[in-house]
Amino acid sequence: MQSQPDACRREGEIGLARRHDSLIPFSRDHHQSLVRAVRMINAHSAAADRIAALQGFVYEWDRRMRQHFIDEERLLIPLMLAEERSRLVGDHDALRSMVEQARTIVEAGAEDGGLCGEAGTRLEAHVRWEERVLFPTIEQRATPEELASLAYETARIDADPPRA
Ligand SMILES: [Fe+2]
Ligand SMILES: [Fe+2]
Repeated sequence: MQSQPDACRREGEIGLARRHDSLIPFSRDHHQSLVRAVRMINAHSAAADRIAALQGFVYEWDRRMRQHFIDEERLLIPLMLAEERSRLVGDHDALRSMVEQARTIVEAGAEDGGLCGEAGTRLEAHVRWEERVLFPTIEQRATPEELASLAYETARIDADPPRA
C-alpha cells in the first residue's frame, strides 16, 4: 500500500510567526496561499481532486496572489540583497508559469501531469521562505524610516479590496 507523502498534513498546521505591522498584509495573504498549497500537495489520489486543487490555486491567484506578487516586488525588492532578489523573482516567475499551466489544465479538464504536487510544493516553500527567512531579515535590516514607509504602503494595500 502506498504511504501518505511526508508533506501530507492538515490545513490547520500552517501557523505563521507574528510580524512587524508593515508586513502583516503580506502575511495575511500567506495564510490563504498556504491553504491552497497544502490542498495541492494533498490532492494526490484522484484526478478530480487534483483538478479541484488546481482550480483553487487559479482562483486564489486571480483574487489575491497576482497583486500580492506585484506588491512584494515593488515594495520589498528595494530592501533586499541581490541573492534574496534572485530567489524571490525566480520563485515568482516559476509560480506565474505554473498558474498559467494550471489554468489551461483546469479549462481543458486535462490530466495534470504532476503539476498539482509540484505547484503546491513550490508555493509552500516560497511562502515558508518569506515567512521564516526573508521577512525576519527585512525586519532586522531595514531602518525605522524604511519600515515606516513600508507600513504606510502596506496599510494602503490592506485597505484595498479584496484583501479587506
Ligand atoms: Fe512572494
Ligand atoms: Fe508573499
